[in-house]
Amino acid sequence: MTPSWIELGGALDTEPLAARPTPSHAVPGTWFSCGRGSLARVLDLVRPARAYLPAWACDTLVEPFAARGVAVARYPIGPDLRPRALPAPTDDALLVVIVPFGDAGPWLDDLRRAWARRLMVDATQGYPLEGFPDCWTFNSARKFFGVPDGSMLWGPEGVDVGAAAEGVERSDAHLRARAEGAPEARALFRRHEATFGPKAEAPSRASVERLGQLDHQGLADDRLRRWHEYHRRLAATNTLVLPAQPTAAPLAYPYLPAKPVRHQALWDVRAWVPVFWPECEGSPDAFVRELAGGLLPLPVDRRTTEAAAAELCDIVLALQRR
Ligand SMILES: Cc1ncc(COP(=O)(O)O)c(C=O)c1O
Repeated sequence: MTPSWIELGGALDTEPLAARPTPSHAVPGTWFSCGRGSLARVLDLVRPARAYLPAWACDTLVEPFAARGVAVARYPIGPDLRPRALPAPTDDALLVVIVPFGDAGPWLDDLRRAWARRLMVDATQGYPLEGFPDCWTFNSARKFFGVPDGSMLWGPEGVDVGAAAEGVERSDAHLRARAEGAPEARALFRRHEATFGPKAEAPSRASVERLGQLDHQGLADDRLRRWHEYHRRLAATNTLVLPAQPTAAPLAYPYLPAKPVRHQALWDVRAWVPVFWPECEGSPDAFVRELAGGLLPLPVDRRTTEAAAAELCDIVLALQRR
């Protein structure tokens, strides 16, 4: 099997500017440097004693809670990656719900009503997503676009989020190295990632400037189109229950085949499908262990052509016939 692409997926390169930019959000929120920074601000405003996080949440998401000594409990998620068996809301608790890969539909409405200002919608797997008027919402724009940093936070209507603290101007060396195919790109990316933490600081000016000059609608439409292409070919073998139509642009197409496909088999053909999140492999929850080991988040970013997505479908299906 020889794929026609040279390399698919993996870290982004410098985000090209659009000839005709379209706005990212009808109602802008406040920029922070990363998702943890947005979350840090919410914790400092809400000051919860405890927080409920999905059983399938990475260590990175826990950082802002750990830094502030907020007790964290986990709740289970179902095959649709939505919450199951949630506790009742209390005045001292914050509920964090991850929007699964752009699936931000009406199922969130009851939670928004019940938890209101005690609900934090983590939109790091779906973009763009307007902030909800009754609860907190944040994204991690930096994961969707080739910019050094950036996460937008929206507060509930009438709540002043406040200004971000002064931040640092982050380099885009890893993005340029990736664009040039330089071998040090990966090491630069790792070093860059290590500069982030749970601090409510502002992003780089260069990131905000670049994010303002993209065709957000076009990029979101491209991601949704790729999602649908995968879904058409793979839904029959996908054990996850996915919506017919995601309402926010997905980070990836989540594929959990009944017959596992090893990540290494994809890396061998230079399809860089990430492992989300290896630290959950020791989870006491059997479904979370299955996700941590077996989920294939298939790439839908601007570099994934229709032909490459089709070829990747052929490959994952062929690997299951072996
Ligand atoms: C679900 C989820 N939420 C939040 C974050 C934190 O985002 P950032 O890395 O921009 O701080 C991550 C990071 O991996 C994540 O996976």
